Amino acid sequence: MIKAGIVGGTGYTGVELVRILSAHPQVELQWLTSRSEAGTPVADIFPSLRGVTNLVYQDFGDDNLKMMSACDVVFFATPHGVAMKQAEDLVKAGVKVIDLAADFRLQSLQEFETWYNHSHACPDLLKSAVYGLPEVNRKRIANAQVIGNPGCYPTTAILGMKPIIDNQNQTGTALIDKRIVIDAKSGVSGAGRQASLALNYAETTDNFKAYGVAGHRHLPEIEQGLSLILNSQFDHKIRFVPHLVPMIRGMLSTIHLELTEQGKQVDWQQAYEEAYQNEVFVDVLPSGSVPDTRSVRASNKMRIAIVQNNERAELTILVVQDNLVKGAAGQAVQNMNSLFALPETVGLEIVPVVP
Ligand SMILES: NC(=O)c1ccc[n+]([C@@H]2O[C@H](COP(=O)([O-])OP(=O)(O)OC[C@H]3O[C@@H](n4cnc5c(N)ncnc54)[C@H](OP(=O)(O)O)[C@@H]3O)[C@@H](O)[C@H]2O)c1
Repeated sequence: MIKAGIVGGTGYTGVELVRILSAHPQVELQWLTSRSEAGTPVADIFPSLRGVTNLVYQDFGDDNLKMMSACDVVFFATPHGVAMKQAEDLVKAGVKVIDLAADFRLQSLQEFETWYNHSHACPDLLKSAVYGLPEVNRKRIANAQVIGNPGCYPTTAILGMKPIIDNQNQTGTALIDKRIVIDAKSGVSGAGRQASLALNYAETTDNFKAYGVAGHRHLPEIEQGLSLILNSQFDHKIRFVPHLVPMIRGMLSTIHLELTEQGKQVDWQQAYEEAYQNEVFVDVLPSGSVPDTRSVRASNKMRIAIVQNNERAELTILVVQDNLVKGAAGQAVQNMNSLFALPETVGLEIVPVVP
């Protein structure tokens, strides 16, 4: 059995990890932390977990290394800046680290420090950390010590663009115009389980707004995704605007592209179907379909639809996922499965919840 621990077990991604890991046949969840709820049984905070786990929240402080080192893998479902302070000691102790925050996502130290306004505690380890997007990076993930689990929006953007970038790289031809517009919407759980005026029921319900319009931290991660992770040989200019929608979970990213004359020659529906035919967690919908967030709720599935209009030279890619599952905890478990040589699907064959 894989011995696992979770730092940050009261947050939305933390509790989602508990839900998924408790049903995982190869995992024994040993402990989880919360500074604010130390000593409280998990099921007292989340009645959904009554009868699922008897664990009690542990405090998180300097003396946790012994507890953490007894694990095979530690998940950090915390804000950025937490995992980086523990990761070196954990790696020395032979423990695998999966950070759901941004400490190990951006390979450029300068980009990290600029966007997160935080100096990096272990730049050397950052160099060997692997970006945990299995559909792109699974060979490297299998041998990693530290995984930077991708951001939710970048997961939709990178997998939403992958067949196009791969196709351009293979043909050496620009198939889309440089300018890429990503118009993305997230449910409110994307902001975490925090008390804040902007996230009050009366502020978020029956309301719809953009945020991070002038620049969002996921932009450099999406740019890195296209340039380094997908190795694009072409220069793209990305305009990314996220929005908050009045739903609890779910994410829809609409990617607007302009096709070049060569790009119009490609049947993109077929190209996407072929690209993802062996990917269990990426479902390319039949032509003419439009994906909705409900069709992936609580599951690790991403669904993609393609709308090609050659007369207008338009290609529109619609991508949905559950921000807390494929966008966070589910993807983290998919990565864990690879780290321990298990099939990626173990513990993740969850049917979406409808209605
Ligand atoms: N929500 C999403 O849809 C989503 C998607 C992808 C990635 N992420 C990323 O995943 C991470 C967790 O997100 P979340 O939405 O689950 O956040 P959250 O709901 O705000 O939960 C944060 C958790 O971390 C703990 N924590 C906070 N500061 C800490 C510190 N300094 N040291 C140790 N523990 C600390 C909190 O508990 P205590 O304060 O009681 O210790 C809490 O359990 C974030 O980095 C987020 O950007 C989130």
